[in-house]
Amino acid sequence: MAIDFDLVKEIKQRADIVDVISYYLSSVQKKGKGYVAVCPFHDDHDPSMQISKDKQTFHCFVCQTGGDVFTFVQKYDKCSFEEAVRKVCEIIGFDDPRLHKQTYQRKIDENLLPVYNCINELQKYYVYALTTEEGKVARDYLDKRQLSQQQCAKFGVGYAFSDGKMTIEYLKAKGFSLKNIENTGIAIAQTSGMSDNNQGRLIFPIKDSNGQVCGFSARKINDDPEAPKYVNSPETVIFTKGNILYNYHLAKQTARHDGYVYVVEGFMDVFAFDTIGITSCVALMSTKLTEKHIELLRKLGCEIRICLDGDKPGQSAMMRLMAQLDEAHLSYRLVSVPGEVRDPDEILKQDGEEKLKTYVNSLVDPFNFALNYYKNTSPLGSIEDKKKVIHHFMPMIASIKDKLVQEDYIYKLSEATDFTASAIRNTLKDFKGKRVDCGASLTNVNAEVNTSLDLSKLSRDLRRLTLAERTVLDLMFVSDEAIKFYEQDIKYFYNEIYRSIANFILEQYKETGKIDTSEMINELNAIEIKNKEQIINEISAINFRKDKAKYSKKMLEDCNTVINEERTKIYEKNALRQACQGKSVEEQAKILKEYISKRK
Ligand code: CTP
Ligand code: MN
Repeated sequence: MAIDFDLVKEIKQRADIVDVISYYLSSVQKKGKGYVAVCPFHDDHDPSMQISKDKQTFHCFVCQTGGDVFTFVQKYDKCSFEEAVRKVCEIIGFDDPRLHKQTYQRKIDENLLPVYNCINELQKYYVYALTTEEGKVARDYLDKRQLSQQQCAKFGVGYAFSDGKMTIEYLKAKGFSLKNIENTGIAIAQTSGMSDNNQGRLIFPIKDSNGQVCGFSARKINDDPEAPKYVNSPETVIFTKGNILYNYHLAKQTARHDGYVYVVEGFMDVFAFDTIGITSCVALMSTKLTEKHIELLRKLGCEIRICLDGDKPGQSAMMRLMAQLDEAHLSYRLVSVPGEVRDPDEILKQDGEEKLKTYVNSLVDPFNFALNYYKNTSPLGSIEDKKKVIHHFMPMIASIKDKLVQEDYIYKLSEATDFTASAIRNTLKDFKGKRVDCGASLTNVNAEVNTSLDLSKLSRDLRRLTLAERTVLDLMFVSDEAIKFYEQDIKYFYNEIYRSIANFILEQYKETGKIDTSEMINELNAIEIKNKEQIINEISAINFRKDKAKYSKKMLEDCNTVINEERTKIYEKNALRQACQGKSVEEQAKILKEYISKRK
C-alpha cells in the first residue's frame, strides 16, 4: 500500500465518522447515544444505518453493511481503500507531505506503462487536432450531431489528422518506440512505414473501468459509402473489446446512487442519455453481452435497464440478453415502446429531450417485454408457435409467489395465444409437478448477496450452534474473562467468520491488553485476508447489536455446552454423509441404522 499504516491511523484519528458520513448523506441525525441515517447501500426508507461516535463505526441493520470511516467511503464511492483514505483527507481538510511522497499509481502492470504513456499522449494529440483548422470538418460534424463542447470534453472526443504518418512521427519524436506505438492499436509497423488507421476520422476514446484510455473507436465523417462507419482498435495488450463497457468509469460513480444503470448499443446513445442528465449509462459497442460485462454490471449493485435499439435486430438482441441476465440472476427491466424502431440518439434529435425522457422511462418487466416481442416482432402463427411461447414462460410464471401477479400473467398470455386461462393454469400445474428447479428461467431475482450471516437460512442445529458462538463472540468484546474462556475452553468456533474475528481479538488482547474495534478494522483494511468484507461487516454489527447478552460465567458455560453438543452432532452428520457417499441404498440404510443405535 502506498500510504503508510501510521499515517492511515493518524488520519482516522482526525476524521470523525459522523462528519464524514454527513458530508455524503443529508439524513444523518442524532438519536439516543448515537446517530442514524438513511442507508445508501440498499433501498432504505427509514434510517436503518447506525453510526457510533465512540467506536467510530457504522452499521446498517437491514443490509448488514458496516465498517469504519474508510469502509463507508470505499463503498459509497466504490473506490479502493487508498482512494478512500485520500478522499477522507480531502473532506476533513487534512494534508501531509507523506500523502504526496509516492505518486499514486493504480495497480497496473509495470511493463504496460510505456504503452499507457503512449496512448495518453496520442489521446491528447487527437483532442488537440480537433481544435485545429483541419479539425473544423470534425467540429462541423459534431455540431450537426448536436454534441456540445462540454460533452466533447467530458468524453474526450477528438480528431485524427488525415496525414496518418504525421501522427506516428509525432509519437516517435516524443520518444515512443515503434513497438509501443503498435501496442496502442492504431497502426502496424511495416517496412513501408506506419500510418494511423484512424486518419481523417472523429475519435471516441474508449476507457477502462478506471478511466484509463485503452483503445479508440473512430467514426467516419465523410459520406464515402465504401468506408466502414467505425474503425475500432484491434485487440491489443491493453484492449479487449469484450471486457469493456463504454462509459463504465463514469457510470459506476452514479449507478448505485441512482439505483439503475442503462445498457445501450452505441456511443451516440450514451451521449443522448448524458444530454437528458443520465450518466448511469454504458454502451455495449455492439449488441453482444459478455460474461465480463455481466460481472461489471453485477458490481454496480443496481437495477439494470436494457435499452437497445427499437429495430428488429435490437429487439432480438434484448431477448438474447434476457436469457443471459436471468442465468446470472440479475435484476433488470427493459425499455420498450411498441412500434418504436429508433435508437435513443435518433429519438433525441428528432423529437427532443422530453420525448427521450419519456422513452427511457417506459420500462417493462421481462415477462411483458417478451410478450410484446412475440406479439409485435414475431407474431404467433401456428398452434406449435403458441405452445412454444407458453412453455417459454412456464418456469417464470411458476416461480411467481404473488398469486395476483401470476394471474395477471396468465391472463395476458391467454390473450396473446388464444389459449384459455384455465388451459394455461393446467399446464402450469403439470409443469410444477415435473420441475422443481426453475433456476435459469425468466425470474427476476435480485442477486444482491447478503454478506452477513442470516440465521434464518441455517438448519436448526447449525442455528443453535451459530447463536451460541455469536453470544460468546459478543461477550469477548466486553469481557476479559470471555476472551480467556474462549482460548482455554472453547478453543475455536465452527463458524469461519466468527473464528477469524476471535483470532483477531486474541491477538489484539495479547498485544495491547484491550479490545478496540475501530483499530481492528484498521488492521483488517491493511491486510489481505479471506472473507475480509464479511468480517468487517460482522465486527461493525456487533457494536450495534441490541439483543447482546450480558456477561456472566454461567452464560459462557451454557454456551459452551451448546457448542460442544452441536459441534459433535454436525461432525457426526458430516462423517455419516461421507460414509454414505457412493453407496447403494441398502448399504446407506445399514450405515444409518448403526449410527442411530450407537447414539441411543
Ligand atoms: N459499431 C462498430 N462498428 C460498426 C458499427 C457499429 O463498432 N461498423 C458499434 C459502435 O460502438 C456503435 C455501436 O456498435 O456505437 C452501435 O452501432 P450503431 O447503432 O450502428 O451506431 P450508432 O451508435 O447509432 O452511431 P451513429 O448514430 O453515428 O450511426
Ligand atoms: Mn445512431
